[in-house]
Amino acid sequence: MSYLQRVTNTDRPWSETNARLLVVGIFENQSLTSLGQEIDLHLGGVIKKAASLGDLTGKPGESRTFYDDDHVFLVMGLGPRDQFNSEAIRKAGGSISKVALASKITTLAVECFCACSEKSECQALAEGLVLGSYRFNEHRTGNDDGPDLEAVTVLSGDETGLTKGAVIAAGVCLARDLGNHPGNVATPTRLAKEALRIGGSCDMKVTILDREEIVEQGMGALAGVAQGSDEPPKFIVMDYNGGAADLKPIALVGKGLTFDSGGISIKPSAQMDEMKFDMCGSAIVLGVMQAISVLKPALNVIGVIPSTENLLGAKACKPGDILKAYNGKTIEILNTDAEGRLILADALSYVTANYELDYALDFATLTGAVLIALGHHTTGIMGTDEDLIRRVKESSVNTGEKVWGFPLWDEYCEEVKSKIADVKNLGEGRNSGTIAGGAFLKEFVGNDTPWVHFDIAGSAWGEKEKPYGPKAGATGNIIRLVIDLLGV
Ligand code: BES
Ligand code: MN
Ligand code: ZN
Repeated sequence: MSYLQRVTNTDRPWSETNARLLVVGIFENQSLTSLGQEIDLHLGGVIKKAASLGDLTGKPGESRTFYDDDHVFLVMGLGPRDQFNSEAIRKAGGSISKVALASKITTLAVECFCACSEKSECQALAEGLVLGSYRFNEHRTGNDDGPDLEAVTVLSGDETGLTKGAVIAAGVCLARDLGNHPGNVATPTRLAKEALRIGGSCDMKVTILDREEIVEQGMGALAGVAQGSDEPPKFIVMDYNGGAADLKPIALVGKGLTFDSGGISIKPSAQMDEMKFDMCGSAIVLGVMQAISVLKPALNVIGVIPSTENLLGAKACKPGDILKAYNGKTIEILNTDAEGRLILADALSYVTANYELDYALDFATLTGAVLIALGHHTTGIMGTDEDLIRRVKESSVNTGEKVWGFPLWDEYCEEVKSKIADVKNLGEGRNSGTIAGGAFLKEFVGNDTPWVHFDIAGSAWGEKEKPYGPKAGATGNIIRLVIDLLGV
């Protein structure tokens, strides 16, 4: 774990902070923010001079440094003033942290660009600052990356928004870490430990089923995938009850496939290492549950993670095998590499059978096809409830995490019916592979629960670097969207 841990507010004037660096902003039409103007006056007009010479244009992420005897000032480009929304603020926060890390600066003070009319904008600033400071260097002994960014003070910010943003971003950093850890570190056992740690920090009941209990409970699909590996599988349930007893709970289900070799239908070797990221759906659930454990909203939320490896062992299940899921449906395995939908079948039928849900969401690196359709920028979504889909899209706009809907029409749903079992784990050939995944999952949600499936196989890692994004590796995308949707 390496990211900014402290984002605090001060109502003192800038001259009284003892941070090494003070950050102010400039917009793309070269107008300075209010504190920017004050600093410019303090420095005898050199900032405006630099701007008039074209040395400082205000483009997003562009920055210049100025000095007096006691201070270092960073002027950060904020882009056009009329497009300065939460996402622009988040990006500015990310850029500031990246400049600080590159300059080996450990503490800084930053003006609250939003002048704090909107709480959510201070939240976005804190998110950007923390997310931009994230580095994954745990496995490199004696790394020479320089010191971490330790503390940021925001001048005249909104304390509540800042704290909330930092807590949410810490959840995202947890998800990035779990995703980036290799399969021999982020095992099902490790995911279970994280769930227990989160549950122990607040009033959240965490139940972990092991291999025997998974079989006993009738989770034949998860058990079937797990039987090819000696690594102990886990079925993790996190029960947060912050709301009234009669408030229907929301279920968050995440694919926790800690390494996907494809099984007997083995994957090609090139880039197979990336299949350590196949648990990024479960990392979303853990990231959200961690943020919830701190923010304690008046909601009831259930996090469920089916977790195992998908390997080839003497006991591994084979193409043609038939498994029985928790809801009693039988599944013909036509490709052991379509294992994510199998373990989710048990998890989705478990939550829908045992709770009367408000709605359910699942997150899964489910299909390579979604990457072909949408690339790394966007998460594919589909579901059974138009109103819930609309709300997901609204939250997506609020948080800047892009989603795009696929249809789950009957024609597609027909394609997962099997000739000798109830369903099969493939659609028709190579066509509409992402929808086939969703159509299969739908069989295990039933008709009574509003549900949206997030196929994060493109967006969970490999994204082009954003100001608040990682250089490479897991992104932790969609956690912010879920927290917005929940209304935390
Ligand atoms: N974890 C993979 C999906 C994946 C592939 C994510 C590439 C990111 C990059 C999933 O378990 C899988 O293997 N899906 C198969 C399904 C197919 C056999 C129907 C796929 O997409 O090839
Ligand atoms: Mn697979
Ligand atoms: Zn997989």
